[in-house]
Amino acid sequence: MMLLDQIELTVGAVAHGGHCVARIGEPPGRVVFVRHALPGERVIAEITEVHPGYLRADAVTILSASPDRVEPPCPFAGPDRCGGCDLQHAAPAAQREWKAAVVREQLARLAGLPDFPVQVEALPGGPMGELLGWRTRVRYAVDATGRAGLLKHRSHEVVPIDRCRIAHPNIQALPVTDRLWPSTDSIETVAPSAGDALVIENEVPVQERALGREWTLPARAFWQVHPAAPDTFAAAVLDLLKPRSGETAWDLYGGAGLFAAALAPAVGPTGRVTIVEADPRGVSAARTALADLPQIRVVPAKVENALRGRLTGPVDLVVLDPPRTGAGRAVTHAVIAAAPRAVAYVACDPAALARDVRTFRDAGWRLADLRAYDAFPMTHHIESIALLTP
Ligand SMILES: C[S@@+](CC[C@H](N)C(=O)[O-])C[C@H]1O[C@@H](n2cnc3c(N)ncnc32)[C@H](O)[C@@H]1O
Repeated sequence: MMLLDQIELTVGAVAHGGHCVARIGEPPGRVVFVRHALPGERVIAEITEVHPGYLRADAVTILSASPDRVEPPCPFAGPDRCGGCDLQHAAPAAQREWKAAVVREQLARLAGLPDFPVQVEALPGGPMGELLGWRTRVRYAVDATGRAGLLKHRSHEVVPIDRCRIAHPNIQALPVTDRLWPSTDSIETVAPSAGDALVIENEVPVQERALGREWTLPARAFWQVHPAAPDTFAAAVLDLLKPRSGETAWDLYGGAGLFAAALAPAVGPTGRVTIVEADPRGVSAARTALADLPQIRVVPAKVENALRGRLTGPVDLVVLDPPRTGAGRAVTHAVIAAAPRAVAYVACDPAALARDVRTFRDAGWRLADLRAYDAFPMTHHIESIALLTP
């Protein structure tokens, strides 16, 4: 529903989800989540949604701009346009500080850790720089007339575009937006690290390279989206866990075994690394790509089921890389019961991470370190890797 009421307001701190918080009316005031604004700005905002406890709004006129405001490099970014990027109007350092503030706030509010130091590191950029041309998987939506585009924020409306500026250059070069796609409602594309970019049809395999190794996996199976993410995250996990020769490790929600491939040489032939992954495509890719590492075994199961059955502790090290919902209390308690000396928790949602950190803390564990990476520039998304120790 689009309500066209406009209000003038001063924008406050950032909040999780790609918006800032403002308040209107008599103190304490009604909360307004404002997109396309920056903290400290005075803006005219158009109300887009009214809820019992809060409003949503888009900043449509900037009355006094933050020094961190820049001209969005994409002409389709902004209020009532493509919903893919939330932060095109923020300078690179301001995007990273935005995300650091969100992680700090989530840890304070949900994990009970006020003032935990968080800094967000940029990942190495490609030919289009640090902020553009990084996205190796893009799903286009197709409208009723067959045009491919991207969806508006919180809407099923397709915004036709010429090309997506954050997509990998090889995806931008694919003939997707310059032709019609009758009889489909979405087009998926991939730019694998080895080989050509392509429009995904059926279960076509692609090749990905990381850690000096090669994986063959179905194009729709999970693989980290930013080209620099696999090597960067694997190095961070090793640096945090410091695996030793002969140790045992679990790579939970292991996908095609990226973290297992990093851990296996470190624990050596006398160690053992167990991948648990529910998606048969990841399981099969891991088994094939890591066949030369006999210390790795792959358990095709849901993590919660494996921890109730085949997977028994004790274990020395655990990598947890769950989907956006987080590991949850049952899995977290089962990991704690296996008594590892350290857990590396790889998280794409800081709220889910903070909730699970709370569960670890309630069991007497501590958040010993946290690295955060701008693996999704121009969007509010952020990847964090936390070290938890008993
Ligand atoms: C964020 S991805 C991480 C994959 C891998 N660690 C990587 O970095 O490439 C999460 C993985 O968890 C798998 N998954 C989701 N829910 C699961 C569950 N309940 N049990 C086991 N695996 C699950 C997904 O199929 C996906 O491969």
